[in-house]
Amino acid sequence: TIELSLRPTKLNQYIGQHKVKDNLSIFIQAAKMREEPLDHVLLYGPPGLGKTTLAAIIANEMGVNFRSTSGPVIERAGDLAAILSSLEPGDVLFIDEVHRLPRSVEEVLYPAMEDFFLDIVIGNGPSARSVRIDLPPFTLIGATTRSGLLTAPLRDRFGVLSRLEFYEVKDLCSIVERTAEIFNTTITKEAAIEVARRSRGTPRIANRLLKRIRDISQVKGETEISLQTTNIALEMLQVDDAGLDHIDHKILKGMIDGFQGGPVGLDTIAATIGEESQTIEDVYEPYLLQVGFIQRTPRGRIVTPKAYQHFGLKRHGE
Ligand code: ADE
Repeated sequence: TIELSLRPTKLNQYIGQHKVKDNLSIFIQAAKMREEPLDHVLLYGPPGLGKTTLAAIIANEMGVNFRSTSGPVIERAGDLAAILSSLEPGDVLFIDEVHRLPRSVEEVLYPAMEDFFLDIVIGNGPSARSVRIDLPPFTLIGATTRSGLLTAPLRDRFGVLSRLEFYEVKDLCSIVERTAEIFNTTITKEAAIEVARRSRGTPRIANRLLKRIRDISQVKGETEISLQTTNIALEMLQVDDAGLDHIDHKILKGMIDGFQGGPVGLDTIAATIGEESQTIEDVYEPYLLQVGFIQRTPRGRIVTPKAYQHFGLKRHGE
């Protein structure tokens, strides 16, 4: 599908995340020289920054199979045993949302990661017995939004910890231009920069916006996506000049109108605007913190003067 072909397959095609890429490139090279599997890798950071893509690239660079699953899908130790025992030596097993593995499954994973064996209890009561299953050596790549969501024993078993950061505008711009090329469309430099600037540092958002802008440009009969069409499209899509969407607005306006800009607790904000606390914390807050529109204090979140300025508002009492 188009979705899949959008993903780069080699490390040198993967744009941005220079620090993570430079480190991984060395670890991959060293593992290949020793003819060993790569050590287990934990990728963490906000959604949409390319953790799954990077995991698939690592498998490809190592020349091994890429097997993919997610924490909540693995309900029982037996589910994990079935996956692990079907791997070929050196394979990459990618577990998205690795912090959501059930605790009972997590415990089975420890010896698998450390010494490549499983201890599975069969039966129950007095007839219960434990069987040991040897596994092929493998690389676990776990993904999560924050490393702090993992239990300490799980986190400790990853040899490589890589934090993905929001992308710089120039890198996002290159991603937009690359995606446009894959779509067989052209976009002006100024339009690509505008999409990049308003995509919250996130390739998934940039690519999604580009698809919708392309639709509008096409219907208008343009031969190349213009800045004017980009601006019109982004307004239609309720993406403001700083790249904030209507949920960011609900969060900030909720804090300003209901709590004089804070400090206010996360759960209170969530209840006020009818969104999940977890979604606000993992999806929306990281970017609002990054651009300096909110700050975290021991007494809760506060809206910054920069955010008031963005909305053209004065702070309470000013
Ligand atoms: N598409 C999405 N993320 C990308 C990245 N980091 N590099 C290249 N293409 C991408």
